[in-house]
Amino acid sequence: MSDERKTQVLVDGVRRTFQISGSELVVLDRIDLDIKEGEFISIVGASGCGKSTLLKLIVGLDHPTSGQIKVGERVVTEPSLDCGIIFQEARLYPWLTVWKNVEFGITRKLGAAERRELIQQHIDLVGLHGFENALPKQLSGGMQQRVSIARALVNRPDVLLLDEPFGALDALTRINMQREVLRIWEAEKKTMILVTHDIDEAIYLSDRIVVLSSRPGRVHDIINVDLPRPRERSGEEFIRIRTKIHEYFFQNAIGGSELAE
Ligand SMILES: Nc1ncnc2c1ncn2[C@@H]1O[C@H](COP(=O)(O)OP(=O)(O)OP(=O)(O)O)[C@@H](O)[C@H]1O
Ligand SMILES: [Mg+2]
Repeated sequence: MSDERKTQVLVDGVRRTFQISGSELVVLDRIDLDIKEGEFISIVGASGCGKSTLLKLIVGLDHPTSGQIKVGERVVTEPSLDCGIIFQEARLYPWLTVWKNVEFGITRKLGAAERRELIQQHIDLVGLHGFENALPKQLSGGMQQRVSIARALVNRPDVLLLDEPFGALDALTRINMQREVLRIWEAEKKTMILVTHDIDEAIYLSDRIVVLSSRPGRVHDIINVDLPRPRERSGEEFIRIRTKIHEYFFQNAIGGSELAE
């Protein structure tokens, strides 16, 4: 695919090893990725292949053993406001309202009016208008994840990383959230990097799907999903891509069954 867009995230020859009881565990090896501005990328791979590790490296919560990561022109050495991350569980403050939880995400200095406007804008963006004063326990799991999305976006990051954000949700809520993420992505034009176990989720959302192999985690394949959105899950090309990824995991990967749900 020839892509004229600017590179937003560059992962260049990244390797990450861990010392585990005296021996070296190679978790990620020779990872090269060139992610474009505004692109939607998914990362799929068996459990333990290094997906979360890769996201942590991109946001600067962890450091490569060798190789380098750049976000825009910045070499990643520590967390920065240009990358926001959402984890599997919503991780909200249970004693704070939706409004306060989103407000807590703001780390920039802003005037009171601008601050209020920004919070309201992001609560509206994730479809939670009217729930500003609700506590997390008064919300469904999907609504709680929407609050985390609002909290991550409120700093206006260029890149949003999502680590299995809908893993704990039931199938229907999940499909709903995928539609929401698509809508937000189309509205906000952020670069999004999604880790998921759900292959249909990856095909439904992504411009490209990065398939990681296990032990060590390497880029096995990068699949272009050249389908208009919103995508029809029963469409011929959708099924072809799904079958291709399933076959790879059934034949090769440890933990493949987990991916084939
Ligand atoms: N801080 C750490 N110290 C030692 N080993 C680690 C550390 N972080 C991750 N690992 C190891 O790296 C490997 C990859 O972990 P990671 O969490 O990235 O996998 P994953 O692909 O996200 O798996 P899952 O799909 O189950 O979330 C695992 O074998 C894990 O034990
Ligand atoms: Mg993980």
